[in-house]
Amino acid sequence: MIYLDNAATSWPKPESVLRAVMGVQQKPFGNPGRGGHRASLCAGRVVYACREEAARFLGGVPERVIFTLNCTDALNMALRGFLHKGDHVLITHDAHNAVMRPLCGMEKRGEITLSVLRAGADGLIAPEAIDEAVTPATALCVLTHASNVTGTIQDAKGLTEASHRYGVPVLLDAAQTAGTINLADIGADLLAMPGHKGLLGPMGTGILYVGEQMDLRPLREGGTGSSSESVYQPQLLPDRYESGTLALPGLAGLLQGIRFVRQHCAEIHAYEVQLIDELRSGLKNIPGVKVYGDDAAPHGGVLSFNIAGYDSAETADRLDRAGFCLRGGLHCAPSMHHFLGTEGTVRASVGPFSTGREIDLLLAEVEKIAKRA
Ligand SMILES: Cc1ncc(COP(=O)(O)O)c(C=O)c1O
Repeated sequence: MIYLDNAATSWPKPESVLRAVMGVQQKPFGNPGRGGHRASLCAGRVVYACREEAARFLGGVPERVIFTLNCTDALNMALRGFLHKGDHVLITHDAHNAVMRPLCGMEKRGEITLSVLRAGADGLIAPEAIDEAVTPATALCVLTHASNVTGTIQDAKGLTEASHRYGVPVLLDAAQTAGTINLADIGADLLAMPGHKGLLGPMGTGILYVGEQMDLRPLREGGTGSSSESVYQPQLLPDRYESGTLALPGLAGLLQGIRFVRQHCAEIHAYEVQLIDELRSGLKNIPGVKVYGDDAAPHGGVLSFNIAGYDSAETADRLDRAGFCLRGGLHCAPSMHHFLGTEGTVRASVGPFSTGREIDLLLAEVEKIAKRA
């Protein structure tokens, strides 16, 4: 099997991640923060180590690292916890449904208004697009760092600076960049990311980093193991946003995943770009294959294509039968397909353990399918 669906979730994971996930289940680890006995304290130390590691990686402080179920959960926490009735929100054409659905639902209920930032034909958004779209009611700018369809990476730092000039905070969806790009430099106020993609942790993990000036209403309230004498949600972070038992095996694995990528972040990015560039130039030489996304735009380890005569789902299915795991369809980003003028694409997404040989084998298989069309 050749796995090229790392944009959905990364595989394989480093050995250290697998060992850590097993480790906290083989030994007596209690519920973190829910007892003074040694088993609970051991678990609490694992959770704190993960929080510290994430904070170091994100250039922040541990208590503002909020553990979530995935990136969708982090984005919902940020959007629903921050916005108020009457707010205007800036969004991007390449937003995933994890951003679109909560916001479009709020818009439909008459709670907020939305504007999509203007993008060039290359899919890139210039900071001036913010000048054009911002209004006195703009409360938040939600940026997608990299498209999960084409891999195109936006100038998140430039866009964040432009938004800040109007006093508008930025929520960055870093689902496709966390683990390969330094997020600390961008200056976003809220950072949402999955733990199970580029950070190489297990599924069921994610992070919302809540910047210093940001105050969110908690979506979930309940037991935190702290201030138990009060029937009201504690104000202290991270407890304010982390009610209920945390995913200890997931966080033990995520700690090791972040440790792995923190040491190799820039190398991983360069390696993934190299593999995608090889794939892109190979696909372009196959008659009947169309590759999406601008060649010159900065990009990560994601690429979309179609083979003439086949629907994307059919191509993905044929590839699956030949042993390749790639995704076909809309990739939960309908607005991006509207922008590209497609009804679906086949997506290849690489990870740090993908190889040039896998890319060569994929190219050979695509060529075979294209010839049969
Ligand atoms: C850009 C983007 N945002 C959000 C998400 C949602 O991530 P998760 O599956 O962790 O909820 C994805 C998932 O692919 C994505 O690509």
